[in-house]
Amino acid sequence: MTDQLTTHQAEEDARNEAILIYLNGKIVPKAQAVVSVYDSGFMLGDGVWEGLRLYNGKWAFLTEHIDRLFEAAKAIDLDIDMTRDAVIQALTDTQKANGMTTDAHARLMVTRGVKSRPFQHPSLSKSGPTVTIIMEHSQPKIPRPIRLATVPHLRGLPMTQDPKLNSHSKLNCILACIAAEKAGADEALMLDVHGFVNTTNACNFFIVRKGEVWTSTGDYCMNGITRQKVIDLCRENAIPVFQRNFSLVDTYGADEAFLTGTFGAQTPVSEIDGRQIGSGEMGPVTLRLRELYRALIQRETA
Ligand SMILES: Cc1ncc(COP(=O)(O)O)c(C=O)c1O
Repeated sequence: MTDQLTTHQAEEDARNEAILIYLNGKIVPKAQAVVSVYDSGFMLGDGVWEGLRLYNGKWAFLTEHIDRLFEAAKAIDLDIDMTRDAVIQALTDTQKANGMTTDAHARLMVTRGVKSRPFQHPSLSKSGPTVTIIMEHSQPKIPRPIRLATVPHLRGLPMTQDPKLNSHSKLNCILACIAAEKAGADEALMLDVHGFVNTTNACNFFIVRKGEVWTSTGDYCMNGITRQKVIDLCRENAIPVFQRNFSLVDTYGADEAFLTGTFGAQTPVSEIDGRQIGSGEMGPVTLRLRELYRALIQRETA
């Protein structure tokens, strides 16, 4: 059997056993970083989060991540009860406490906090938010092209659970991922409500056709920061790029396909629903975009 791949595959790093974690203003050893079973995040998936990466002592695209976090919190009516600067300070303090300078990944999570009783109503979360930062040493493996399978789980309309929310509850995406895994793939390719190709369960999705880069309109997927950077890089480097509707026919027939996300940057796709995409290896446009993105990170974090 082929090994299961994910887009979040990192080199094993023994130092991660001894990391310190930020929990509500304190920085504590991993074993002590525990939250109540009454926490809104644990009980209901009621919270929002960001995944960030540290390169050369700087958190890449920090403003964009903090903007998205505060925007999501506002949308779900969650008062983070910290200023933007205080959130950034928490990130910096955790980084310093862990002695991390580069190749680290942070999952910054804010939930509606501990509830007074084990029920759904948000008014039962009286004690203020729970803010945590898990920061790990993280060196992504050189990406091996991954296999996708389309699944019956859709990226829904904004009035159900807006796919733009980086919510703690990821059940729709998790069910999609399980279905893909059962179909023998590594990750799920999800369609929108009209049947157009949209995104994967954890990353944004692009195809390359005859030198053009296509991604979905953006209406039903996470407003990925890496997705936007790739679109911007295409525009700056005269690579034709389109945000448009396209179907599985266009996708199976693509020359290349790749995923984007903060963790893996750009991950090539070898196969979708048993059809080999292009050569099955990382294609020249994906390779070029990976190089342009790496140079952008160098500039951003210089
Ligand atoms: C469903 C989904 N799509 C895409 C992304 C990638 O977004 P970004 O490039 O901002 O990491 C994420 C990351 O959180 C995600 O959860």
